[in-house]
Amino acid sequence: MSNIRKLDNVINNNYNDNKLNTVLNEVLQDIIDYKDGQELNGFSKKLINELFGQLKKRNFIPPVIDIIQVGSTARNTHLKNDYDIDIFVRFEKGTDKELLKNIVLECGKTVIQKLGGKCWVEYAEHPYLSAKVDKYDIDIVPCYKLEWGDKIISAVDRTPLHNEFLINKLKTKYNIELIQDIKLLKKFLKGIGVYGSDLKTKGFSGYLCELLIIYYGGFINLLKESQYWKLGQKIILPDIYKLYNLKDDYEFIDIPNQPLIVYDPTDINRNVAAALGNENFCKFLYYSNLFLKNPSKDYFYDYDAKVAKNINNRDMGELLTLVINRPKNIVEDVIYPQMEKLQNSINVILKEHDFKYIRYGNYADENYCYLSWEFTVYMLPNVHVKVGPPVYYGNRAYQFAEKYDKCFIDGCNVCAFVERKYKTVYELFEDITSNKLNNKIATPKYVVPENAKILNIFKEKYEN
Ligand code: UTP
Ligand code: MN
Repeated sequence: MSNIRKLDNVINNNYNDNKLNTVLNEVLQDIIDYKDGQELNGFSKKLINELFGQLKKRNFIPPVIDIIQVGSTARNTHLKNDYDIDIFVRFEKGTDKELLKNIVLECGKTVIQKLGGKCWVEYAEHPYLSAKVDKYDIDIVPCYKLEWGDKIISAVDRTPLHNEFLINKLKTKYNIELIQDIKLLKKFLKGIGVYGSDLKTKGFSGYLCELLIIYYGGFINLLKESQYWKLGQKIILPDIYKLYNLKDDYEFIDIPNQPLIVYDPTDINRNVAAALGNENFCKFLYYSNLFLKNPSKDYFYDYDAKVAKNINNRDMGELLTLVINRPKNIVEDVIYPQMEKLQNSINVILKEHDFKYIRYGNYADENYCYLSWEFTVYMLPNVHVKVGPPVYYGNRAYQFAEKYDKCFIDGCNVCAFVERKYKTVYELFEDITSNKLNNKIATPKYVVPENAKILNIFKEKYEN
């Protein structure tokens, strides 16, 4: 990081640190529960022992090497009332993929049933077992056991190394403070609506929060330092230089077009903040600034919903929502990018036909996808200017003029007044829902606007 700081818009260090600490201590009361942590650990140990017994009984050790607990609940960096347990079953590197999957699904199922729970198979890059026992949400995931520096075989192989790295870092004497600050950061990001690395949220993952707190040494310090961030901000943990025997920044591969680049200590070719979108990066900077200047608990509790409520308490433009049927069994990480693709392609057509919107957004519940717009221009007179070629393109200008009856010259171009194809956005959306614009818009597999309903609302996630 540069030592020279010239920023006139932000930094003075006249923050009210007392007020900040008071607020943070109040929030901590709501997010920490030591009893929870002990219960979780007890239950995880029991689960691991049962699973180990089952694997041994069926002679699967080897190829299974060990079973470990990972994720935030393994390092006590989870928020209160989070009963997520991630169990990873690690196999020898050469193990056949089918075998690895079958072993975990079969033995996992037996153990979960023995504990009186329910389980089902989930599909990420490869299948794993999800289960519910009492209040616990459990994932049992097969992976390969890698050493530091090994090339990953599947995406989940990094997770145990993340855990190892973090456990080592959090063992230092600052342990308690760092852990508290990780929880505060998660809660703050949740409050402003940017926590989660899924394709719907495009925000900060739990692992990213942990690395940021470790790098900056604490929550307040991270917020203060983030006021110097620019788009494309690079963060390199000192440990990485040691782990990979590197000396200078330029030895790190360039990762373009990302607002924040945090090199993963377990794999320096990977950006831990890869999922973070520009808008959420900027939301973080903006709300951090507001919070530092005027500390308040509000930011930690559904703040984004409060902002939405406030900004929507006003006169509205013309609201329109496409309500599209969706298949239930397709995951949000597939549905959301498809909604976005379709909506962006519709936006292009809307602009082509001179309609204007001031906001748009999409949202899905288990039955429907909702693509919404708020228009300031949704109805137009029946005239449109068609711009033709410049007159000095001889024949082409002449050919254009032959086609249209009401031609004139605007600048160097021949133009014509013609009738408008769509006088209202409704006419345009009716062509979309009756498949007449299929060759002009995106046609994603699971978000299909044919026969969609058109409603005069703007559907938002905050309503639920
Ligand atoms: P989780 O999504 O459960 O996150 O993934 P978490 O770290 O436990 O945080 P919270 O408190 O539940 O929100 C479990 C592990 O999977 C890896 C990380 O190692 C994480 O700790 N992971 C998950 C990633 O590397 N990237 C992701 O986008 C998600
Ligand atoms: Mn978790």
